[in-house]
Amino acid sequence: MRDDEVYKLLSTPGWLLVPVGLPGAGKSTLGGRLVAHGLMHQHGILSTDTLRERLGGRRDWLGDEELVFRHVREILDARLRNGLTTYLDATNVRAVDRNYALAAAQAAGRAGLVVRFSEPKEVCRRRRAHQGVVYDDHVWDGLVKDLAEIDWNSLAVPWVDSAAVARIIADQT
Ligand SMILES: Nc1ncnc2c1ncn2[C@@H]1O[C@H](COP(=O)(O)OP(=O)(O)OP(=O)(O)O)[C@@H](O)[C@H]1O
Ligand SMILES: [Mg+2]
Repeated sequence: MRDDEVYKLLSTPGWLLVPVGLPGAGKSTLGGRLVAHGLMHQHGILSTDTLRERLGGRRDWLGDEELVFRHVREILDARLRNGLTTYLDATNVRAVDRNYALAAAQAAGRAGLVVRFSEPKEVCRRRRAHQGVVYDDHVWDGLVKDLAEIDWNSLAVPWVDSAAVARIIADQT
């Protein structure tokens, strides 16, 4: 997608952005920038980490992922129905995690955009370790494999690189 098309999408409330990237790639940081630059309300950040904390007491609670994603779907559906701009702040590397959201945006007639974060695993891992979050090798390897298997041109909505979104936010707002 061209920069001017991305900017036009971001300037028209009601969009759904779906970042896709490893832990530590910068997804939440980009969401914060969209809020800081007035492109969305902070309530539009729909974060699985925040829901895990609300429901299970910790950002890294994995006690009931079905419950977490049930909340994600309910909130997302309501926001799309009500025309509210939303940033689905989750890794979204697995098709099952992101496809519901992409299909829901389409069904609601809202503009959807996937944001691809391609920071290397070692960079992401270092950033997470700095903040005391350590996942096992097999968790990282599984996420990297899922990310590598994504067929970017077969997504239900267009995609754009995270660096392009960051540049557009900085330049245009
Ligand atoms: N473009 C960037 N350049 C350098 N550092 C960055 C960049 N974006 C984010 N960071 C830093 O990397 C760390 C992780 O960023 P962030 O929390 O946004 O990642 P995340 O993708 O939301 O991770 P998670 O999936 O674990 O929530 C933070 O300390 C943040 O300040
Ligand atoms: Mg995050």
